[in-house]
Parts: sequence; C-alpha cells; structure tokens
Amino acid sequence: MRRPGRVLVGSLPYSLLPMRRATETADLIVVNLAEVATPLGQEGCRAESLAATVRAGLAVVVERGLVVAVGPEDEVRAGWQADDVIDGQGGVLVPGFVDAHTHPIFFGTREDEFEQRVAGKSYVEIAQAGGGIRSSLRGVRDASREELLEQLLLRLDRFLELGTTCVEAKTGYGLTCEDELKCLEVLRDAGLAHPVEIVPTFLGAHDVPPEYKDRREAYIELLVNEMLPQVAESGLAEYCDVFTESHVFGLEDSRRIMSAGRDLGLGLRMHVDQLTALGGAELAAELGAASADHLECVSPAGLEALAAAGVAPVLCPLVPLYLGQTQEAPARAMIRAGLAPALATDFNPGSCFVQSMPEVLTWAALRYGLSAAEALTAATLNAAASLGRADRLGSIEVGKQADLVLLDVPNHKFLTYEFGRNPVRTVIKAGELVYERAEVEF
Ligand code: NIG
Ligand code: FE
Repeated sequence: MRRPGRVLVGSLPYSLLPMRRATETADLIVVNLAEVATPLGQEGCRAESLAATVRAGLAVVVERGLVVAVGPEDEVRAGWQADDVIDGQGGVLVPGFVDAHTHPIFFGTREDEFEQRVAGKSYVEIAQAGGGIRSSLRGVRDASREELLEQLLLRLDRFLELGTTCVEAKTGYGLTCEDELKCLEVLRDAGLAHPVEIVPTFLGAHDVPPEYKDRREAYIELLVNEMLPQVAESGLAEYCDVFTESHVFGLEDSRRIMSAGRDLGLGLRMHVDQLTALGGAELAAELGAASADHLECVSPAGLEALAAAGVAPVLCPLVPLYLGQTQEAPARAMIRAGLAPALATDFNPGSCFVQSMPEVLTWAALRYGLSAAEALTAATLNAAASLGRADRLGSIEVGKQADLVLLDVPNHKFLTYEFGRNPVRTVIKAGELVYERAEVEF
C-alpha cells in the first residue's frame, strides 16, 4: 500500500500506557483528549441535531478497524488492554473529514486563468474563450494511466495530511469514452493503493468537448447511448453528475442525461444553480438525486423541492471566493427548511485549487454563519450521508469504522476560528495509523 512519506506503518511512536485490571483487549486506544467532537447517528443531521456533540474526558477504543467503545477515560483504562495507545496530548479527536465533491483527476494546472479572474474576467468569459474545463482536456487525454495515477496519489497524500479520509472524486476532464474510462480506472487503482477512500463519480457531462462544439446534440447522444452504458457496465462509478448551467447543459439536456444514468442504476449528483438561478435544484429533486451541489443561486422554491425530496445540499464555500462571485449558498435557509447540508472543497484546477477541509470549515462559519459544531457535522456525517455511507463513516461511535483525526487544538471551536494552519497531527483510517505529522525540533 502506498503511503505519504511521513506516514508510519508498523512502528508506532507513542509510549504504551499501562492498562490496569484489563478485561478486554483491543488494537488501539486513544487517550488524553481535551474533547471528542462528533455528530451521532446513521443519517444526515438536520436542524438542532446539526451541531456535533462535544464531550471531555473520553477515550476511544478501536478493534479490527472499528470503534468498539467510547467512554470515560478512567473506565477505558481500567477495562481495556490495547496493543497500542495513542496519547492525544490534550488535543481534539474528530471523525475523518468526508469531502463530498472533488475533481482530483487532472493533469496540468490553470494558474493563468486565476490571474485573469483576479484581473477582472469572469469564469464563464474564460470558459467561452476556450479556457475553463476545456483547457484541462488536453492534459488528461495525453497523459498515461501511470502519469494520472502518480499525480492523483500525491493529491490523496495531501488530502490525508489535511484530515480527509474519504473523498468523492469526479472524472470530467477526458470527455471521450476512452479517456473517461481511463480516469475511472485510475480512481479504482488509487483507491486500492491509498488509505483515502474514493467514491467515484462519472462526470462525462462536465462540458461539451471542442470536437462537438457545433454538434452538442451528438455529444448528448454519445453520453446517453455509449458513455453512460459503458460506464455502468464497467462497475467503476457509483454516481453520475452533470454541470447544469445555461452555458453548458441546460435543464432539458440535464434531465435527459441524468435520467439515462439513473435508469442504468447509477446514483445522481448534480452541479446546480451555481452561477445562475436555472432551476437545477428543482430538477435534482424531481430526479431523486442523492445530492444537489453548489446552489449559490437556488430559489426558495428550489430549497423546498430539495427538502421535500430529501436531497442533500453539498456546499462548496470556497468556490465563490475563488471565482469572485458575491452570491453565497443560503445555508441558514437550508437548515431552516429541514435540509441536511454537507460541506466540500470542490477541489479542481479551475474554480477551487484547495484541498483543505479545515479551511472550508472556517469559510462556512464566516460566510454561512455555521458554528464549529455545525460545520463539523456537515463535513463528516452529513457528507457521508450524501454519499450513502452514513452507516459506516462520519462519526465516532461504537460500530462505525475507526476513521479518526487528532487535532492539536485545545477545543473544537478552533476548527473554524483558526485559519491557514493545518491542525491535523494524526490520522487513523479503518483503525490503522496512516499519517503522523513530523514534529519540528528546535
Ligand atoms: O465544480 N462546475 C463545474 N466544475 C467545477 C469547475 C471545473 C473547472 O473549472 O475545471 C466546479 O466548479
Ligand atoms: Fe464541481
């Protein structure tokens, strides 16, 4: 298994603390924590239950990759004997972050477009001049599987260092059948080689590629009749997605593409109402999508439709900042409407070149008015729920997979309060210590 350079395998640096009156054995215990901060349950949290629970004085016991006990530290020390004990050093333990929307498989970056936006050009202007998503196609089409895999693994290392233990990952920079399947295969291979869990999404409907510029109907035919069936047949994607926006795929096109994906058994995620109020949220509700993502321009009727259909809103608060867009997703109105919002980076080379969920949490507080405890739930259990994984991921409780992140902060409020420093000291994935920050010695 490939691991980041500083990740430890098989040699734990922590002192073994003596267990008294041990009656049960475990693989790992985490002790000496200022707080365990976690949402609870097996579904997305809404309204008042959105705020994660925060408790002091707890220790967490892990056996065979699962959390088997969470209890007062003195009871845990008295009742459990473990091979390894992690000293939390007065930090905070949270569930691994689940990043519910990323585009991590690209080859080549787009810093020149960033400069153009900073100088006043809009995202759509740049896209219509041949930049944007289209400018990422060449790199992916020309790159070999090995090259794509190498780059993706480096990005997964970075996710892990930032406390992200599961990412939804979209294709969408190939836009031919062959290149999209190549990207899905690379996602599969990366998932087998790296501790970060990958949820693969086919985003062939990210844009109309230049060779179909004047034949967009033909590209939609290709998507519906060839690409989606081959992707479904391959078993390499859990979800399909579409960029529903008037300069890309309008409502009718999106309905057609997503219905075809749904009929082939794929789950649906959709980029909707990001740049204009097109009514994509209503369409996501009509189609029974698992998630409606972005939603900066969603209408009140769109919110009601999402709530009635139980669609998860996936919010990407760094994207408007990155695009110079003033409109923000109405997160508070979503919470009032009874929705279970999730947070994500939207990591991609164009509209958000950021992998850090801690930075997303701070921005969710500053722009949406979420408390640290609310933002934590949105970035863990609610994100897992949007990906159909809330039974296994997203919280620290008995029976869940032990995806744990130790933060070197005195309390969970630092998750939003502190900006620009990575607070992650240790990451455990399915009970394995997979990352430990190298300490600088003075
Ligand atoms: O989510 N909206 C479409 N996709 C990305 C942008 C991708 C790109 O510009 O390369 C997004 O913002
Ligand atoms: Fe996106």
